[in-house]
Amino acid sequence: MERTFAVIKPDAFAAGHAGRILARIHEAGFTLIGMKKIWLSEVQAGGFYHVHRDKPFFADLTGFMSSAPCVTLVLEAPQAIRRWRELMGATDPGKADEGTLRREFGTSIGRNALHGSDAPDTAAFEIGYFFSGMELL
Ligand code: RTP
Ligand code: MG
Repeated sequence: MERTFAVIKPDAFAAGHAGRILARIHEAGFTLIGMKKIWLSEVQAGGFYHVHRDKPFFADLTGFMSSAPCVTLVLEAPQAIRRWRELMGATDPGKADEGTLRREFGTSIGRNALHGSDAPDTAAFEIGYFFSGMELL
């Protein structure tokens, strides 16, 4: 079993897509280990996306992620990291495959509905950034 970290980003949560996204997560065979609605500050969003701090889109990204509430999730499944990124689809919803969540719920590269960890070390950091051990029983 493997755990990954996911976010239903402010665009998708505000649009009322959280319920349908959670249903798709269950249908795909993930177990929901943690779930929390949170309204990040810009500093908290920057800490989460610190690997991108030198990128030109960093200010847009942290501004967007702190603009409204989101839902943070811990998902468990065999190969959860890879499988969740496959279900999300490409970063740019316009390039995401048919049937992926970003294709269905995303509207632009900066408003792409969902986040997913990209490797075991980032998953461990991101899960620990938002959840304590006792919240993941
Ligand atoms: P995420 O971290 O949110 O799951 O997305 P990702 O791995 O597919 O993409 P990543 O390269 O980690 O980028 C993080 C987020 O930054 C925004 N972005 N904007 N304007 C741009 O060129 C650009 N590139 C990336 C996206 O919202 C992406 O999800
Ligand atoms: Mg990423």
